[in-house]
Amino acid sequence: MKMTIYKYNTIENMFNKKRTILYFGFFILFILWVITIKRRDAAQYQALKEILDQTQLKLKIKSSNYNALKVKFESICDKWNPTDPIIYAITPTYKRPVQKAELTRLSNTFRLINNFHWIIVEDAETKSTLVADLLLKSHLNYTHLSIATPVEWKRKLKEPKWKKPRGVKQRNLALEWLRERRNRKNYNGIVYFADDDNTYSVDLFNEIRLVKGVGVWPVGLVGGLLVEKPLIDINNKVIGWNSAWRPERPFPVDMAGFAINIKLLLSYPKVLFSWSVSRGYQESAILSQVITKEKLEPLADNCTKVYVWHTRTEEPILKAEEKLRNQGLRSDMNIEV
Ligand code: UGA
Ligand code: MN
Repeated sequence: MKMTIYKYNTIENMFNKKRTILYFGFFILFILWVITIKRRDAAQYQALKEILDQTQLKLKIKSSNYNALKVKFESICDKWNPTDPIIYAITPTYKRPVQKAELTRLSNTFRLINNFHWIIVEDAETKSTLVADLLLKSHLNYTHLSIATPVEWKRKLKEPKWKKPRGVKQRNLALEWLRERRNRKNYNGIVYFADDDNTYSVDLFNEIRLVKGVGVWPVGLVGGLLVEKPLIDINNKVIGWNSAWRPERPFPVDMAGFAINIKLLLSYPKVLFSWSVSRGYQESAILSQVITKEKLEPLADNCTKVYVWHTRTEEPILKAEEKLRNQGLRSDMNIEV
């Protein structure tokens, strides 16, 4: 028993000694620290403070960026269902007085759609801030690209609209983008060519999502008719169209009247739009490379509903604006229209 108490005391003494040394060490360090603080000159202190302030500011910016991104992604996630296919809407667009109005109308509709990815391709050498800002604020999942139509294919002033095909280069760039980035065998998605001036019902996208190969449906206000639509037989097969304009086309359908499953499209790596096809044959040219009429999937209640309209926005008359410009003035001086 005694032995153990003795042993215990020696151990305790040892600890006490060590503790004293430790305290002493800390004290010395503290003194040194106070001395160095006192020695710091004002300039050094100022520099350190500035660095601290800058870091704080950077953190603030980073956190506000983070919050903006968070809001954006939350809104996208809201519209995201992992089991549904993604709809890729490819939209060529070009600068004109009504461009922002058209794209605003479209983006407001697309915001209501689940699993939606907007590939917007400007007919321009470079991407514009007008489109970039609109997309940034849209809360949409998007890809912004640009490619200019070669001058020889660009519509000349006073030349009728129908003379040259539109959106060829732009749609092809979007297809290349898809081929490079979505080339997986089990990829679940559908490609739709959504021109920037049409009117789309949210119901259309529920139909597009069903497309396994190529889906077709009626389009309102196109080809000189109130509605241009596929004709269906009793077995729900497409046997033709009611088209009045060039009904001899292999697929007498407007770009807004079909969508293609991405697997089918990607299984033909060379399918693109082309300048060399006759007027009004863009749709036929692309469709005949990937499908036959018999295999088309009639949608929109067996083609009895109109969910998309080939609307055309009237070109605004800007006579007064022209007068202003002649005087070196303009009504949109500090305001984006
Ligand atoms: C019809 C079809 O609906 C189009 O899909 C098809 O591309 C066109 O005919 C054609 O034959 O090329 P339409 O209303 O006459 O369409 O054409 P636009 O709406 O003027 O143009 C189609 C798309 O190309 C639009 O998204 C438009 O913004 C874009 N576009 C038009 C350009 O990117 N650059 C231009 O110079 C003109
Ligand atoms: Mn149009």
